[in-house]
Amino acid sequence: MASSSSSSSSSHKNRPSVSTLFFLTLFLLSAFLFIFFFRNRDPALTLRSDLLLLHPPPLSIHVHPPNNTQTQPETETEPEAESAVATPTDTDTDTKISVDNTDDTQAESDAQDENTVNGSNGDNDSSDTDDEVGAVKKQLDCDLYSGTWVKDEGNYPIYKPSSCPYVDEAYDCQANGRKDSDYTKWRWKPHGCDLPRFSPTDFLKRLRGKRLMLVGDSMNRNQFESILCMLREGLQDKTKMYEIHGYKITKGRGYFVFKFEDYNCTVEFVRSHFLVREGVRVKAQGGSNPTLSIDRIDKTFRRWKKADILVFNTGHWWTHGKTARGVNYYKEGDQLYPKFDAVEAYRRAIKTWAKWIDHNINPKKQIVYYRGYSSAHFRGGDWDSGGSCNGEIEPVLSGSILDNYPLKMKIVEEAIQGMKFPVTLLNVTRMTNFRKDGHPSVYGRNVTGLKRVSTRRQDCSHWCLPGVPDAWNELIYANLVLQQANSRS
Ligand SMILES: *[C@@H]1O[C@H](CO)[C@@H](O)[C@H](O)[C@H]1NC(C)=O
Ligand SMILES: *[C@@H]1O[C@H](CO)[C@@H](O)[C@H](O)[C@H]1NC(C)=O
Ligand SMILES: *[C@@H]1O[C@H](CO)[C@@H](O)[C@H](O)[C@H]1NC(C)=O
Ligand SMILES: *[C@@H]1O[C@H](CO)[C@@H](O)[C@H](O)[C@H]1NC(C)=O
Ligand SMILES: *[C@@H]1O[C@H](CO)[C@@H](O)[C@H](O)[C@H]1NC(C)=O
Ligand SMILES: *[C@@H]1O[C@H](CO)[C@@H](O)[C@H](O)[C@H]1NC(C)=O
Repeated sequence: MASSSSSSSSSHKNRPSVSTLFFLTLFLLSAFLFIFFFRNRDPALTLRSDLLLLHPPPLSIHVHPPNNTQTQPETETEPEAESAVATPTDTDTDTKISVDNTDDTQAESDAQDENTVNGSNGDNDSSDTDDEVGAVKKQLDCDLYSGTWVKDEGNYPIYKPSSCPYVDEAYDCQANGRKDSDYTKWRWKPHGCDLPRFSPTDFLKRLRGKRLMLVGDSMNRNQFESILCMLREGLQDKTKMYEIHGYKITKGRGYFVFKFEDYNCTVEFVRSHFLVREGVRVKAQGGSNPTLSIDRIDKTFRRWKKADILVFNTGHWWTHGKTARGVNYYKEGDQLYPKFDAVEAYRRAIKTWAKWIDHNINPKKQIVYYRGYSSAHFRGGDWDSGGSCNGEIEPVLSGSILDNYPLKMKIVEEAIQGMKFPVTLLNVTRMTNFRKDGHPSVYGRNVTGLKRVSTRRQDCSHWCLPGVPDAWNELIYANLVLQQANSRS
């Protein structure tokens, strides 16, 4: 999974010739730029998410034992260096979670059913009757993640391109000059059933009095903006939804809370690129390096605890240079490893997260989703070496690319299977494999009016909005409908 960035090192000769000096200068200059670039990122990325609670009944669809696990090398990873403007909010205390595996006895979820039941406080939800409950369960009795995309021009997109103020420039492809729009008109269709028709008002009712929190990297911010736009469609008066601090969504900020006044609920985003704790090592000779403590939960965890429904992800950052190289970067306890394998580090980090969830989140009151790896589609190179996806206007509808299932996901599945807490895996990897047409490519910024669009750096990792993340949120909706139906029966 590690995209190795071959760092070409300079070979010095004894007698510096003009050209060696030239290359040396070039090298120093790029080293400087490189350092500058990485220092500029928020060194302490954290995401804090609190999980909120819904009720967590045992769902039939959640966690199928993975049977066909063909391992495919992960196609790629994502680059985005978010220049972080610092997240002032986190008080940084040193809470460390210990990751020992003592009592993971499967607390089978039988006991949970009872108490967890009453959906929302006394409201008449749309699916209150027994008939409806039965119908819902029957309707959704299938693998929601095994399916295909079908054109549905009548109902899609769920919100009009460039109509939603919460889509930030990086994902606002139509406003940035993308001309084709078919990529907004696909609906995800599971093979064995149909997803419930997305209803923003029904979704909001299900969220009444609750906090829904997305925790993760920019891919989750992508999904967060999508869900804000989808729910916004349910409001007659759009001013009844606002960021409580007045913040505008930018990648520089690590925490947003949107309140839906009429439903007394919030939808929040907490940035955390790794779910475990980033730190900084001050070097003896001055200067500092980033580190990653794979045995400690990210310091934003206090926020996570307060949420009723949590949606986590991590993934794309694990293939970046220093993370992939693992030199003087990974830490456990006080020990800094001179060199450590990135895959093993990822495995331990996910376990740290899993352990933390088991110990801190209440399955009777809170729901946890883990949103699976979102595929990128760079052709002809990687994100940092000229890979591109521009000109793609249709999904891939067949071929072996659809079967890519990264090792990262197998590691996540393994961790989830070892948990007491019934985490629901939103297994979106396969559905994203199809969608080479859904990325911003060159339309991650406004290129209308430019005579020539540079095709050099393309974003083939994130998604245009409206677009693919809308379908992930429809899956969250389907899961909530199902979970709430289960908890009533
Ligand atoms: C998730 O999807 C992949 C690819 O379709 C499949 O191989 C895997 O078994 C699924 N995992 C679960 C837990 O359903
Ligand atoms: C997964 O396992 C189920 C039951 O064990 C089986 O019916 C199904 O064909 C398997 N799927 C694959 C892709 O192997
Ligand atoms: C569920 O509703 C019943 C009555 O309708 C009430 O007695 C019970 O306390 C409620 N449980 C919860 C967890 O709200
Ligand atoms: C629930 O439905 C009943 C009758 O269908 C109605 O009288 C009541 O006002 C409704 N309650 C709410 C909170 O909408
Ligand atoms: C709004 O929801 C919170 C829980 O998030 C609850 O404590 C509060 O009482 C609710 N307010 C109203 C007016 O329902
Ligand atoms: C993009 O640039 C064009 C031309 O400069 C401008 O007219 C348009 O308003 C810009 N669009 C956005 C969304 O900023």
